[in-house]
Amino acid sequence: MILGLETSCDETAAALVTDDGHVRSNIVSSQAALHARYGGVVPEIASRRHLELVLPVVKEALQDADAALDDVSRIAVTQGPGLVGALLIGLAAGKAIAWAGRRPLIPVDHLHGHVASLYLEPAPLEPPFCCLLASGGHTLLLDVRTHDGFAVLGTTIDDAAGEAFDKGARLLGLGYPGGAELDRLARQGDPEAYRFPVARTSGLDFSFSGVKTALLYTVRSLHQTELAERKADLAASYERAIVTALVRRLLAATEQVGAERMAVVGGVAANSELRRSLPSARIAPLALCTDNAAMIASAARYREAIPYPGYLALDAYASRDAA
Ligand SMILES: Nc1ncnc2c1ncn2[C@@H]1O[C@H](COP(=O)(O)OP(=O)(O)OP(=O)(O)O)[C@@H](O)[C@H]1O
Ligand SMILES: [Mg+2]
Repeated sequence: MILGLETSCDETAAALVTDDGHVRSNIVSSQAALHARYGGVVPEIASRRHLELVLPVVKEALQDADAALDDVSRIAVTQGPGLVGALLIGLAAGKAIAWAGRRPLIPVDHLHGHVASLYLEPAPLEPPFCCLLASGGHTLLLDVRTHDGFAVLGTTIDDAAGEAFDKGARLLGLGYPGGAELDRLARQGDPEAYRFPVARTSGLDFSFSGVKTALLYTVRSLHQTELAERKADLAASYERAIVTALVRRLLAATEQVGAERMAVVGGVAANSELRRSLPSARIAPLALCTDNAAMIASAARYREAIPYPGYLALDAYASRDAA
């Protein structure tokens, strides 16, 4: 089995996955409540919490799988992109567990992890396919030809889709992180009530700053009581604009590369309107959309393990460009 670790943002996660992709356990401890009062993730607080949680979460993952460290053949850990301080906790824990158990370590790219959430049993998707990765930090269109990587076809020129959901939720007073809450509220609203802009960026890129500003101005133009009455309509219309942009570009990318299948991964793949709008796409199972360690262990199956002492030199990276 592979022990996966994930600490790139505010989820401390550990999972056990077999070599053939069966998830034996998948533990995610979210720190969202801890950061809620600040309206976003505070990196230093996240790192400190990861430090407290990482070993208990690993123990729980082992218990849940009814396994011991002896059953683990290698350790997989997220190396980046993410918050460097948060990543370092997972990376250091991974190195320590690997060293203690005389096991090799496999550094995993978090975005490759999101894609690899599709490679797990019971219904693994086989490349090639065209993939939309929409999360809190990224919005990417990917040409996936092999299990071990991808080529980027398009990206966002400003906010990520998840970030746009969270900022919209904040404007509507829904708290943090508000993407899922906005999704729930939108189900009670009329998506045609307001016409929010869908950016016309060139090629396969995305832009979400315009729709966010449009929501801000609309919210400002309404009186308190009016705002309360129209909240669900605003949420539904805002969600419609974001989902329309995502769906349009995914269809265009799929056609451009001549892919026969398309897929969606990342936290925003949990969005009900997006799932409904893409009946023919493969969408990651709900539990594997937002950050988790099963997807990290899954990605590790397609990467080379680094033996001792090589892995000790590994460092975390904050962004995709620094990888
Ligand atoms: N039902 C939903 N509808 C819309 N957005 C959602 C929903 N559920 C979760 N999200 C959004 O998904 C994002 C979290 O996804 P994820 O955990 O994959 O991102 P991240 O790890 O923070 O970013 P990255 O993977 O880019 O580093 C948040 O922005 C959250 O609001
Ligand atoms: Mg993520």
